Amino acid sequence: MKVFITRKIPDIGVKLLRNSGFKVKVYEGKKPITPKELITIGKDFDAIITMLTDKVDENVISHFNKLKIISNFAVGYNNIDIDAAGKRGIYVTNTPGVLTESTADTAFALLITAARRIIECDKFMREGKFIGWDPLLLLGMEMSGKTVGIIGAGRIGSALARRCSGFNMKILYSSRNKNEYLENTLKAKKVSLKALLQKSDFISIHVPLNKETYHLIGKKEIELMKKTAVFVNTARGEVVDEKELIKALKSKKIFAAGFDVYEGEPNVNKELFKLDNVVLLPHVGSATFESRSKIAELAAKNVILALKGKKPVHLVNKKYFDD
Ligand code: NAP
Ligand code: GLV
Repeated sequence: MKVFITRKIPDIGVKLLRNSGFKVKVYEGKKPITPKELITIGKDFDAIITMLTDKVDENVISHFNKLKIISNFAVGYNNIDIDAAGKRGIYVTNTPGVLTESTADTAFALLITAARRIIECDKFMREGKFIGWDPLLLLGMEMSGKTVGIIGAGRIGSALARRCSGFNMKILYSSRNKNEYLENTLKAKKVSLKALLQKSDFISIHVPLNKETYHLIGKKEIELMKKTAVFVNTARGEVVDEKELIKALKSKKIFAAGFDVYEGEPNVNKELFKLDNVVLLPHVGSATFESRSKIAELAAKNVILALKGKKPVHLVNKKYFDD
């Protein structure tokens, strides 16, 4: 049986697949594969490991006659029409858990970098502007003792809460379900999204992108935030109305923001480059050697199970495969 991987990934994933007796083809392009190429190449394969940059919609899926599994190399799977796949008996899987700590590190790094204006400070030094210590130079927001609001308190949201707790912060969260772990171990409080936005000094978003969460944070929500708020998005760009956020940052309606993800990636709104009160990362939330190797391993293991006739563990379109 044959497995297609749409981008070069850590070797461990490819080795696992080959050691299990599968033929593996890795796409060699320097940019993400186009839907047209995915259809042409992918249709002859039994399994595909996709990247979050691959749009695997109903049209693409309709060309896959022999495909058993689409194994996404990510925890987010908004790039795949999981229902279209399920209806055709194709498993869709993701890679939860193995990138939780690395992504929470990234969210925390964005919070502290934006709050303490670290990028501005670095630029200031490189431009030779430092003439000595100054009581009023580049003041930022202190984190200790402040309130952090976590929107979407799942794996990554909870891991961020642990980091914030270590910084002596009070924790608010909004999710549909109660998170007993956060409430019992970190004294976190579940509040409405409105209360979270009004009361938090730092806000970090960790919901998946779907029809319900598209533009979850828009003009109305941004208006509820404090003028001193620091907002961070490591979830997906489309969860936030980016144009409204840029307007708020330009007019200093909030203090600063940190972005790892963008609406319409890989395009980035050029207005962002003109702002000093933003920190911009190139979607590197889980980009550690450790996490990426574990993602490769998990994505391969999902494929191996499916091709051996077993139900993969990390199935995200379960309802089509209930026994
Ligand atoms: P997770 O454990 O499933 O957590 C997501 C949480 O969001 C759930 O606990 C869920 O709680 C909550 N949620 C879902 N819909 C909601 C809604 N409409 N309103 C409020 N809360 C909602 O997922 P995770 O592993 O933490 O990953 C979260 C997301 O982070 C992924 O989907 C992905 O898009 C993104 N991510 C980005 C990077 C990066 O590189 N920047 C890396 C990894 C992940 P309830 O069910 O209780 O609402
Ligand atoms: C990265 O963005 C992921 O969803 O794993």
